[in-house]
Amino acid sequence: METPSAKTDAPPGRSLGHIALHYQTPDEGPLAARLLTLLGFVETQDLTLPDGTHFYRFVVDARHRARGDGILYLSVVPEAQRKLVGAVREALRVGQADEHPAVADMRGHLANDPEYSFHIGVLVESLEELEARFLALEEVNRSDPALKGRLRITYNRALKSDADVEARLDASPIYSRVDRFAYGRNGVQAFLETDVLASGVLGESTFLEFDYVFPDRQSHVLSIVEWA
Ligand SMILES: [Fe+2]
Repeated sequence: METPSAKTDAPPGRSLGHIALHYQTPDEGPLAARLLTLLGFVETQDLTLPDGTHFYRFVVDARHRARGDGILYLSVVPEAQRKLVGAVREALRVGQADEHPAVADMRGHLANDPEYSFHIGVLVESLEELEARFLALEEVNRSDPALKGRLRITYNRALKSDADVEARLDASPIYSRVDRFAYGRNGVQAFLETDVLASGVLGESTFLEFDYVFPDRQSHVLSIVEWA
């Protein structure tokens, strides 16, 4: 049996190593880990810390299991950060009648464009996988007892692309019904916002992006940004 190896034949260089994600409340570690698994990430470690919360290591796919890149760490929001975010929210009167107008303004921009602020993008090598996972997420958001209503899903279709790409998207169970567009051609995007994970200036949610690029295109959504 082949032993997982951190060796690589690639020339010296860099890759994106890891991202530290945080789940919102101490009891929701297992729920956050289940959500990452539904998204296709591979859990490689579940460490219970002295305070009883879980610290997880995930990789973007199994090829990264023993490597130092392609990693997502997942732990609860650290206490000082939770206190700071609480103080910010109180100072801005979030959710109160006299809420600072900048809060609604920011939320409006995020509602219109999931790429407006901090987010994490993952490249998926199969459009069929992306479609299957997001159709499943839509169902989870409708019916899962713990995740129902906690996922906000948005899709961007490619800008007007090659004829065969257009035909594939017209036949897609997802993209045939999408009238939002990415900032480029020959690729599609699927976004998930969830309040299971905390980030952003108000600590309310995290935006994850999943992209698919049609092969062998010189110009695609992740190679050239187009401002339509
Ligand atoms: Fe993005």
